[in-house]
Amino acid sequence: MHELSRDPQSTLAEVIRLLWERGEAVALTGAGISAESGIPTFRDKGGLWDTYDPTVYASIEVYRRDPTLYWTIRGDFIRHYDQYQPNPGHLALADLESLGVLRRVITQNIDGLHTKAGSPDVIELHGSIREIFCLSCGRQYQAPHVPPGLPPRCESCNGVLKPNTVLFGESLPVDALRQAQEEASTRAMMLVIGTSVNVYPAAALPEIARRHGAVIVEVNPERAFPLVDFWLPGQAGTVLPRLAEGVRKLAARGN
Ligand code: OAD
Repeated sequence: MHELSRDPQSTLAEVIRLLWERGEAVALTGAGISAESGIPTFRDKGGLWDTYDPTVYASIEVYRRDPTLYWTIRGDFIRHYDQYQPNPGHLALADLESLGVLRRVITQNIDGLHTKAGSPDVIELHGSIREIFCLSCGRQYQAPHVPPGLPPRCESCNGVLKPNTVLFGESLPVDALRQAQEEASTRAMMLVIGTSVNVYPAAALPEIARRHGAVIVEVNPERAFPLVDFWLPGQAGTVLPRLAEGVRKLAARGN
């Protein structure tokens, strides 16, 4: 059991030192890391689920009956997909990976911004909104290029289109989940960033990491996960570049 340090500066320094010394962390990210890219979170005030009931707007059962509701809340995002760009938080994680101290990013986000930021081989637990396919003939589309209409329909067969994202009532991609569980149970550190740690099975990953003895570091303006060793309060786009800068300095000194 580790102590939760109270002084933000020394907490930051300790986390930087641990990252450098242990050299193998995994990150679990959520909507908070993309908030500074202009993508609303879900459960914060003003978040998507503040306005729209997820059991209606993001349920596979409802989608099968009527996909219009889903496209009402996600259509604009898909059609303007290219406007959303990684922010300093995403870029800092890619930096930590290139420095060799972060081994993998696991994300609940569907926005593809970690990959755009240069993170290799991201585990996308809830799929990707970039890939869209026809539920009838399987034809594939790529955001932002989807036919017009609400909901848009397949240009080949007029079938219903669905992004390759996980809706409530659907299972997570098996391979992604297995790989994420493997990462969580083998890495010495886990950075839990911008997630309310509410939605299972992703929410179990910090618990798995903790059970296997990993040091848990939370980056979030609020404390969402009770079992953290270190909490770095603040926005991901501010805190993560500081981590990357600190590790870069240690790497340059070679100590
Ligand atoms: P939530 O909206 O539940 O939580 C967002 C978290 O980000 C909160 O804890 C905020 O305090 C924090 N936050 C906000 N701004 C931040 C910033 N700039 N930097 C760091 N943290 C910040 O989002 P998720 O935990 O990602 O699933 O939600 C998990 C899943 O619930 C989503 O993947 C989605 C949703 O329903 C599905 O739709 C299947």
